[in-house]
Amino acid sequence: MSLPLGKADAATTIAPQRTLRFGQIGYGYWGPLMLRNLAKQKNAEVALLADLSEKRLADAQSTYPGLPVTQNPADVLNSSAIDAVYIATPLATHFELAHQALAAGKHVLVEKPLTDNAANARTLIALAEAKGLILMAGHTFEYSPEVEYLRKLYTSGELGRTYYINSSRLNLGLFRRDADVMWDLAPHDFSMINFILGMAPVAVSARGAACVHDGLIDVAYIDLKYPDGIIAHVHVSWLNPNKERRFTIVGDRRMVSYDDTAGNEKIKVYDRGVDRPDYASTFGEFQLSYRYGEIVIPFVKGEEPLSVECQHFAEAIRSGQPPRSNGTVGLHVVQTLEAAHQSIAQGGVYVATQFD
Ligand SMILES: NC(=O)c1ccc[n+]([C@@H]2O[C@H](COP(=O)([O-])OP(=O)(O)OC[C@H]3O[C@@H](n4cnc5c(N)ncnc54)[C@H](O)[C@@H]3O)[C@@H](O)[C@H]2O)c1
Repeated sequence: MSLPLGKADAATTIAPQRTLRFGQIGYGYWGPLMLRNLAKQKNAEVALLADLSEKRLADAQSTYPGLPVTQNPADVLNSSAIDAVYIATPLATHFELAHQALAAGKHVLVEKPLTDNAANARTLIALAEAKGLILMAGHTFEYSPEVEYLRKLYTSGELGRTYYINSSRLNLGLFRRDADVMWDLAPHDFSMINFILGMAPVAVSARGAACVHDGLIDVAYIDLKYPDGIIAHVHVSWLNPNKERRFTIVGDRRMVSYDDTAGNEKIKVYDRGVDRPDYASTFGEFQLSYRYGEIVIPFVKGEEPLSVECQHFAEAIRSGQPPRSNGTVGLHVVQTLEAAHQSIAQGGVYVATQFD
């Protein structure tokens, strides 16, 4: 089963020569990184920034003198001069702000995860379709050159038959108040794995613990079953002594590791594995041969994923083509998170995912 793209988010396109005007809502930790990248898009500008915090707006204006700002997000949503809205506010506000932006005829890029429940994600997708607008989820890693490289390795057959994927995203903090560690970090892992494999999981099992704050999961172990027998394990934590961003794909021809903290040697492709050449003559006995071949560190041209993401958003708006991380792709991540929570509530049993 391959991942359905979903109904294309048909767009109200904007001619290449016309300046694309972005509005941004939210300028906390993540907003500044995206504003820098939105602002440098060709033939585009950030026309208005909204944040409830006066202090955050003052900070933005010290970096971008003359940037129009407002403490009222409705100014962005109601401005007829704005074509597209980027939303970088806490999860609980994503749906309301995105819904209002789409209803006002704006293309929308919402930070991950798209919404805090699947029903709301479906409502946004339907509204975007009805209005002919782009809806995109901020799945940053789908725009990373390294992840793109892993996808090519997988789809080219270079890895052989893929057995399993392992992904860990650990750090000490940053604790959030608006989302637990699964809603905060696992969207990255889920979206990366789905993007690389081109499919979504059929079942999810999860265990988690709320070590520091009662009721707020800060460490989780999530198992995903994909079609064709591929399994994946995702470990996310805000309670780890050091930062770890490790991703491994194990195939029967090659194995590959991706360490996002490893400077310019992030990806290593190993010609390693176990071969079962033939069965020995004795009944039930077989010989394994371990292959320790070369390790290749490929050159992957560095590009800032956020820059690629912003360019992709602008191109989708201009072309009307559905973006890579369109609403349906965002919905699948939300549905997987919901299934993981159901599994935790049921003691870690596998919960079948039911994608639209
Ligand atoms: N793609 C990534 O890699 C990545 C990384 C970090 C955070 N994020 C996402 O970005 C979003 C924001 O996270 P953050 O860490 O920047 O949070 P934050 O709390 O640091 O910043 C949120 C900002 O939004 C403002 N805000 C809150 N409600 C608002 C509203 N209704 N209208 C206008 N402004 C409002 C706050 O004043 C604050 O400045 C989250 O969805 C998070 O998951 C994505």
